Amino acid sequence: MNMSKRSLKYVLLLCLALVFTQCKTKTENASDNQEQNSTKGMTTKHQISTSEFGKLPSGEKITKYRLVNENGMEVDIINYGGIITNLKVPDKNGVNKDVVLGFNSLDGYLTPSPYFGAIIGRYGNRIAGGKFVIDGKEYTLALNDGKNHLHGGNKGFDKVVWEATQISNSKSVSLQLSYLSKDMEEGYPGNLKTTVTYTLDNSNSLKVKYEATSDKKTVVNLTQHSYFNLSGDFSKKILDHQIMINADAFLPVDATLISTGEFRKVKGTPFNFTSAKAIGKEINSENEQLKRGLGYDHCWVLKDQDKGQRLAATAYDPKSGRFMEVFTDQPGIQFYTGNFLDGTLPAKGGGTYAKRTGFCLETQHFPDSPNQKDFPSVLLSPGEKYQTETSFKFSVK
Ligand code: GLA
Repeated sequence: MNMSKRSLKYVLLLCLALVFTQCKTKTENASDNQEQNSTKGMTTKHQISTSEFGKLPSGEKITKYRLVNENGMEVDIINYGGIITNLKVPDKNGVNKDVVLGFNSLDGYLTPSPYFGAIIGRYGNRIAGGKFVIDGKEYTLALNDGKNHLHGGNKGFDKVVWEATQISNSKSVSLQLSYLSKDMEEGYPGNLKTTVTYTLDNSNSLKVKYEATSDKKTVVNLTQHSYFNLSGDFSKKILDHQIMINADAFLPVDATLISTGEFRKVKGTPFNFTSAKAIGKEINSENEQLKRGLGYDHCWVLKDQDKGQRLAATAYDPKSGRFMEVFTDQPGIQFYTGNFLDGTLPAKGGGTYAKRTGFCLETQHFPDSPNQKDFPSVLLSPGEKYQTETSFKFSVK
């Protein structure tokens, strides 16, 4: 078939036109996206996206917010309990994996969860006998941990729905969560306006900022209860993770895990983490405090009190190379090695969460402070503002 020169020219032109339109649409889409993201003032690189995570028995929808930074670090947070459900960070080979324990669906968090990834309040940790006194008036709280009160009671901040606001700027993305805890909720005095803001920046740091005000004198001690396993494999125990805690003393507990009021030196004890060591190195040693905690479940007294933000602890998983630093302005940190996990809870990747497959580093004021005269005060009066920040910074080494 001999085609005239002219028709050959037409065919060639047609092909060229076709190719041209193809490229144009591609770039258009890309720029649209860019356009879209930049209209929100975010570069394409860090962003927040939302999806429905489930419905409460009341029918109320719970939303999952995914914060992503320019390195591809991802943090998923739901407005139920302000729970971090997933946190993905790269290992030494750049492979991103989820390093926090939790559940794939809302149901998991509605059946009693061991506070996986939740915001804890109004008072993190234990209060002896569920009682405290302010200005001569005694307040009675729920006894939800044997004869003591734990983590804010039966319906603490880990089981309420928070109002969520997405905030972004050129350097970071934030999810601001607000909740009004009404006067005498769970037995605590005062209408407590609480805001917790999660901010993910491009240095792989997740900052948690806590703010609260009250119209009556009350007690406040908020914390974040993520369980970490830096290997990203939740079937593995965390005993080979190397932990450093910037503290020369810790707070011994009685048989019900209530502080005895003593400040005990860590030197010469299995509680000495002043230089990094494997969690499993001394966890099973014949130490009465370890026996009581069924492992580590104690509050360390951080160095450099009143010096504002400082390094509180580090965690390192030698195999994956993942490294986490915890910075805070809080006086204490509860190091808990997942001793109560008992293999009954379904794990995200299949299987179940066995004992010591996750650890927590809960920055906070000391446990039972309302009843301990030598502990820093946790009182919040009208006109005052409770404000504290903790950040979890991820890298590899
Ligand atoms: C804290 C407590 C532990 C345990 C967990 C949640 O870390 O210190 O004793 O109660 O919460 O299960």
